[in-house]
Amino acid sequence: MIILRTRSEALAWRAELDRGRFEDRPRVALVPTMGSFHEGHLDLMREGRRRVGEDGVVAISIFVNPTQFGPGEDLDQYPRDEAGDLAKAGRAEVDVAFCPTDPNEMYAGSRTWVEVEGLDQYLCGRSRPDHFRGVCTVVTKLWGLLRPDVGIFGEKDYQQLAILRRLHADLNLCGEVLGMPITREADGLAMSSRNANLDPAARDVALNLSRLLAELRRRFVGGERRASALLEGAAAILAPARIDYAELVDADALSPIEVIERPALAAVAAFVPSRAGGEVRLIDNTVLRP
Ligand code: PAF
Repeated sequence: MIILRTRSEALAWRAELDRGRFEDRPRVALVPTMGSFHEGHLDLMREGRRRVGEDGVVAISIFVNPTQFGPGEDLDQYPRDEAGDLAKAGRAEVDVAFCPTDPNEMYAGSRTWVEVEGLDQYLCGRSRPDHFRGVCTVVTKLWGLLRPDVGIFGEKDYQQLAILRRLHADLNLCGEVLGMPITREADGLAMSSRNANLDPAARDVALNLSRLLAELRRRFVGGERRASALLEGAAAILAPARIDYAELVDADALSPIEVIERPALAAVAAFVPSRAGGEVRLIDNTVLRP
């Protein structure tokens, strides 16, 4: 696996790939990550291989992006294991890993921010102001460096994916954005790097997020369409996890809805006690289609 550490190494690698005849160039799949890999990440990398084929290039980035963390959030506690991640990526047949060692590598001298207006005012955007500005900025930088034919993201971060699709279309970026279904543990827990910060008792509490979504789906399948009735008792189902939000929003516009008449996103965010004594904020979602 080729490891790229700096922006100039990444640009030189991409320029080398672009040499020769256009039709001979390998296709590139990019999986941007913040590391601490679980099966969900590896699923995205395997999908990358399926998309570009054996002659293509599967690239990942590992960068815990400081600009998407707000003051008091878990930037310092975010799990990091670069050596373990690179070993897992190697087994998943990743060809190239862009792993800047230092935030300055991505941001030194930078004066440009990328912001998608509107979609960031709902759900996570309300409790994490500037989070999506940080995500959009770093993903745009990664896209410019590695110029993928396909960039692959998980649907657990549904709002992030919706915002990145918009960004990709608005800025006429190359290639396409691909979303992949949530990878879950056998008991339903959505895989997340932050799960590494849960002890066994907290992991059990974390299951309340997927339990809530299962309950919403049960009520929905039973014919209920009113958001208030679907969400009734949500905080109690999540407890002792502290609710950030549990909402039904339009699956495209992400704006809150009162009655489900077209595909709706049921989305939840909650704080679960962490191994280290603080709290871990987890998210999960499911799409309900009438
Ligand atoms: O989903 C993530 O891991 C991050 O938000 C991303 C897309 C890698 C940007 O830092």
